[in-house]
Amino acid sequence: GELRSWSGPVRNVLSAICTRSKDGSLEQIELGSYPIGGTADAEEALAAAVAAYDDGRGEWPTMTVAQRIGCMQNFAKQMVAKRDEIVRLIMWEIGKSLPDSQKEFDRTVDYIKATIDALKQLDNTNSRFLIVEGTIGQIRRTPLGVVLCMGPYNYPLNETFATLIPALIMGNTMVFKPPKFGVLLFVPLLEAFRSAFPKGVINTVYGRGAEIVPMLLESGKVNVLTLIGSSKVADHLKKMHPKVNRLRAILGLDAKNAAIILPDADIELAVKECLLGSLSFNGQRCTALKILIVHRSIVDRFLARFAEELAKLKVGMPWDKGVTITPLPELGKVSYMKRMVEDAIAKGARVVNESGGAFSGTLFYPAVVYPVSEGMMLYREEQFGPIVPVMPFEDIKTALEYVVTSEHGQQVSIFSEDPKVVGRLVDPLVNQVSRVNINCQCQRGPDVFPFTGRKDSAEGTLSVHDALRSFSIRSMVAAKQTDNSKR
Ligand code: G3H
Repeated sequence: GELRSWSGPVRNVLSAICTRSKDGSLEQIELGSYPIGGTADAEEALAAAVAAYDDGRGEWPTMTVAQRIGCMQNFAKQMVAKRDEIVRLIMWEIGKSLPDSQKEFDRTVDYIKATIDALKQLDNTNSRFLIVEGTIGQIRRTPLGVVLCMGPYNYPLNETFATLIPALIMGNTMVFKPPKFGVLLFVPLLEAFRSAFPKGVINTVYGRGAEIVPMLLESGKVNVLTLIGSSKVADHLKKMHPKVNRLRAILGLDAKNAAIILPDADIELAVKECLLGSLSFNGQRCTALKILIVHRSIVDRFLARFAEELAKLKVGMPWDKGVTITPLPELGKVSYMKRMVEDAIAKGARVVNESGGAFSGTLFYPAVVYPVSEGMMLYREEQFGPIVPVMPFEDIKTALEYVVTSEHGQQVSIFSEDPKVVGRLVDPLVNQVSRVNINCQCQRGPDVFPFTGRKDSAEGTLSVHDALRSFSIRSMVAAKQTDNSKR
């Protein structure tokens, strides 16, 4: 109960730790340890993945789909047996509340099961014959090669597995680097990786991305880069590959999702959706609402109700019952939140909720900042934390213009009770982002829905079904129809 702040993994020591502030001093508590690898380990991991793939001739890429499914089921069974340990590590390492850590785990197991079911039904998976103009084609789904997989710290297990599982089950081999925070939780899975899959199919490297990733990409031996993380990092990484255009990339990147709240919106509903839409897991979700654009005629009412509901959210430690706001994973994040709020205040905005922007260790109290305008950091930058920027608008064109001119294009929410108004907005918006949410917050799930983005927000599409396609290619075997084959 005394724990106050998180430091995340400490550089150059063999442990992930959490710290607490006691009378101003920091005490470190070791959660566990893992070896920090270097380029030699990365080289070894890559060589193992390349050998296991063996240019498509390896045991794994040539296995039948049924055999690969069997391996995955075996893995899932072992993973389920480790639920409590992994849930606790998610909670400790990234400060996610216990129920949300449990949800993350359970959603991941459901995702594995759904992936297996989807693969059984996937058109052309095993073999499908088409006869067109005298040519018989057997169409197959075949793997792409060696995948470098890197997930994010906010969903270290779930979003990593949203790419790792479909990539594996389609017959690819893998070098996997766990995220910066959320590292230890993979340790209980290493044995399951080893026993469920053939040697070299999945190779985990712990270590600093900046140290080990360049070597992997510069080798030219990685066929697919999959990253859920920052757009800037993705651009940087892609350039490291010697043949940039031949590196397939499946990416989930930055987003600055807006909610547009129209004058006839149901304010209670909008407040409820935008509150958790902005602040669940402290706003550390790529799909979080990162700016609320509210019609000037209702903005005062909206802000008052929003602040009232926000005051009811419990702030505390992730294991506290009913908690919503928990500590951020490192002190640097708190400094960034402070900088953004100070910048907005210096440029004419204010924090409208009591204790908004206060902090203690890595706990940062959510701040509702109003009125946000162009030129402030909060206007365009993705805060990825507990700040709710609110911008008023008078003409809907202004709100649309914000979305159109954004460099991001993941999702948007609109709140209005008038179907005609909604109808007029949906078409222009759906050509700007990959998902328009009507009278509800932005989100990734349910996981069968396509998850992607336009502009610099994504490359490729994820979802239970889409990811199987993203990590494979449709190949075929063709032959001319003969009199014999006609019979
Ligand atoms: O951080 C990005 C995730 O894709 C968000 O997923 O909407 O299910 O929380 P979620």
